[in-house]
Amino acid sequence: MPAGRLWPLMDPDEMVRSLEAERARGVALFGAAETLDDLEAAQVEVMGRRSRFSAVQKAVGSVPPEDRKRVGQVANDVRGELQQALAARREALESLAEDALLDADRIDLTLPGRAPRIGSLHPLTIVEREAVEVFTSLGFRVAEGPEVEDDWHNFQALNIPEDHPARTMKDSLYVGVPGHPELLLRTETSAVQIRTMQSQPPPVFVVAPGRVYRRETSDPTHLPVFHQIEGLAVDEGITFADLKGTLEAFARAMFGERRRIRLGPAFFPFVEPGCEVGVSCFRCEGAGCRVCGTGWIELLGAGMVHPVVLENCGYDSERYTGFAFGLGIERVAMLRYEIADIRMLVDGDVRVLEQFQGVV
Ligand code: PHE
Repeated sequence: MPAGRLWPLMDPDEMVRSLEAERARGVALFGAAETLDDLEAAQVEVMGRRSRFSAVQKAVGSVPPEDRKRVGQVANDVRGELQQALAARREALESLAEDALLDADRIDLTLPGRAPRIGSLHPLTIVEREAVEVFTSLGFRVAEGPEVEDDWHNFQALNIPEDHPARTMKDSLYVGVPGHPELLLRTETSAVQIRTMQSQPPPVFVVAPGRVYRRETSDPTHLPVFHQIEGLAVDEGITFADLKGTLEAFARAMFGERRRIRLGPAFFPFVEPGCEVGVSCFRCEGAGCRVCGTGWIELLGAGMVHPVVLENCGYDSERYTGFAFGLGIERVAMLRYEIADIRMLVDGDVRVLEQFQGVV
């Protein structure tokens, strides 16, 4: 029956019951709506123009005056309540829809992430820094010199004679700058001794870490480019005992308190006397093992600075004496980390390098 024709048939009590019924039906329908579309359909059905509620509401105007207020009040209450139920359900459904959107957009963080790789210091850097630190704590400062040297600084001033094999193309790497046949890549950090003494009066206490170059084919124990630390001390009254004490302090700081050193004769043109310095093995305590063989590890060349070298640099060799020493950084790294092939230090293989993570 069309809603519009209901009103002449209804009495006020029936209208109130009808409104109460619509209230209950609307609240239930709205609450059951699963989607916003369902909710809208329910709204049209319960409160739309052709709904029963609408028809009853329209009929309020023709209710006899003595009942009109009561029925009108109920109609208003019911409309208010239905609107409230509708709004509450709409809000709930909208926030559900939003949650679904967020869910769809969610970035899955549960996989193990790809962590950036953490770098590490190169073993040569570790050894060089440590050695430099030992010497600076003994009062030496760090000196540097160029890697391209001339014949005078690299050979002549160091008392290396004209006919020394190091001066041939066979052993050294000449740069080949047109007009400067004397330029070569320094063969030892000893050249820094010369530059340091030329640039300042005594006393001198310096260590010079750096790269050196030799015409060498790489094999398990040789590289054409490697690293040394040169040490130089010049002052009045410096003796061989100072050299010995300095190197012993170095050996203990670097390889452990129980280290001893031994000196054997050796020749280097720029020192007199010259010696080779061995350190008791840090691995077997001197008993003999696969690292050292005999219990001793030959580590350094050293000696008292040759008077000719002092004079070459303008120092009075009657007044000043000094000692010098040179240490191979690759050699220390190989011994300490038991690296069998020197080439592993320059290959850049991450499987080797990452083993030094956290080693400082
Ligand atoms: N320069 C020498 C070398 O390369 C080492 C050394 C330095 C020896 C200082 C004596 C004094 O083998």
